[in-house]
Amino acid sequence: MVSMPPGLTAATGMDALTHSIEAFVSTIATPVTDAAALKSIELIKEFLPRAVKDGSDIEAREMMAYAEYLAGIAFNNASLGYVHAMAHQLGGFYNLPHGGVCNAVLLPHVETFNKEAVPERFVVIAQAMGVDVSKMSRAEAAEAAIDGIKKLAAEVGIPAGLAELGAKEEDLNVLAENAMKDVCGATNPREADLAEIIGIYKSAM
Ligand SMILES: [Fe+2]
Repeated sequence: MVSMPPGLTAATGMDALTHSIEAFVSTIATPVTDAAALKSIELIKEFLPRAVKDGSDIEAREMMAYAEYLAGIAFNNASLGYVHAMAHQLGGFYNLPHGGVCNAVLLPHVETFNKEAVPERFVVIAQAMGVDVSKMSRAEAAEAAIDGIKKLAAEVGIPAGLAELGAKEEDLNVLAENAMKDVCGATNPREADLAEIIGIYKSAM
């Protein structure tokens, strides 16, 4: 692990964060997957920036290995959501690596769409990311979870938008049509129509 470059460390770490968040808001989440997902989110928030900054930080590497393993337990049992459904299309269409980068760019935009369906889940995500939600309304705390995701992505050097990855506006229709056929979308907490999926892609450009 210590030989992984910072960009790959950031991408795979943000992929794990996506696994945990999508599993935590999944329609088939259980107390077991919740426990794994939340611990994983806490560990990623604390240790991913350290692992990216200094790849030889063995404690950060070890804790990220636990975080990624816990995220795997969560999503192998609770499945995923629109972030992966939409990222898979970008990966196939533009030959981008899976991972992390496509997921990381899409994650805050999909969760902005999702948060009105399960705001109470996003309050818990905010807490797992270290936000003091005690004086916040539920909506404010849910928004703070999204802000926390964006800040973490920026901190580890994830590109700001899909255009930087080579995505083109004229392709969004076919990407969205294919995303709607991806099995990962079946457990997303809020159902989107084609126009809404296109809208999420656009907001992530
Ligand atoms: Fe993934």
